[in-house]
Amino acid sequence: MQNLEVTIKRNSEMADNYCLLEFSLPDHAEQALAGQFLTLRIGDHISPLLRRPFAYASYSRSSNCASILYERRGRSTHMLSGMRPGDTIDLIGPLGKPFPLPHDGTQPVLIAGGIGIGPMLFLYHSICQTGIIPRMIIGARSQSKIPMDLLPEQAIICTDDGSSGIKGTVINGLAQLSGSIGDTTLEMFACGPNAMMKAVHLWSQQQQTVPRLYVSMEQTMACAVGACMGCVMRVNHEKQYARVCIDGPVFDSTLIAWQGL
Ligand SMILES: Cc1cc2nc3c(=O)[nH]c(=O)nc-3n(C[C@H](O)[C@H](O)[C@H](O)COP(=O)(O)OP(=O)(O)OC[C@H]3O[C@@H](n4cnc5c(N)ncnc54)[C@H](O)[C@@H]3O)c2cc1C
Ligand code: FES
Repeated sequence: MQNLEVTIKRNSEMADNYCLLEFSLPDHAEQALAGQFLTLRIGDHISPLLRRPFAYASYSRSSNCASILYERRGRSTHMLSGMRPGDTIDLIGPLGKPFPLPHDGTQPVLIAGGIGIGPMLFLYHSICQTGIIPRMIIGARSQSKIPMDLLPEQAIICTDDGSSGIKGTVINGLAQLSGSIGDTTLEMFACGPNAMMKAVHLWSQQQQTVPRLYVSMEQTMACAVGACMGCVMRVNHEKQYARVCIDGPVFDSTLIAWQGL
């Protein structure tokens, strides 16, 4: 984990209210892995008071460049979308535990819902570098919420309103995919709204061919380094609670107490 001042290279809208922020990093910046996140100080030190967490959407050691894909939600993200190339920003990262890479002989399936697409694109490209091409399923409310230019060509798209791809949820996409690839063992990875990840977890539990599902959880965070207990979440473990910022954000889905979410 490092505290760095980074320089914005690009800050542009890729879909309705979804923006891509690319920034250059100093040579000594620590390598970030897919699933890890950073926090940004946006504005002055008084308002907004808290740093904001975002998942890495890419990290390139060769070009010393990284990115996040963010949704304009409230004050910080609106301020962030007003920043321009050349502006600098205070970053702490990489934080949290990354996604593991898939086991040999399995077919990785990546499922992204809403703004959860950023870390899944990072994971997609990381797995591609090992010579395996993952399958990807994208769930969104409508086509306007999908950053099409960033997606791999073969991604299966599911929209609530049917404006693109399959009309339905990522579960409809999973049904289509599993029907087409038969008995191959699937190793699954998901990031998106809790309701989507819970549905994917329940689906995976009913399949003989899915030994593992990893999910990236989002909780409101204050310190992001394990000190304040602001991000605790119930888990199926003797400790009962986990801190999303340092025990996660990536968890084996069987560890999550889904009934409360
Ligand atoms: C580990 C982690 C990774 C994240 N990765 C991304 C990412 O890649 N891209 C992205 O756009 N966002 C991501 N988020 C969420 C992001 O941190 C919030 O959207 C951001 O802090 C909102 O700040 P704001 O000041 O604009 O909005 P605020 O004024 O703080 O909030 C605006 C609205 O968004 C809701 N909100 C705020 N934080 C969260 C949250 N963590 N989860 C759900 N709702 C929230 C609030 O309840 C409120 O309704 C991540 C959060 C975590 C914990
Ligand atoms: S945000 Fe403080 S312990 Fe996780």
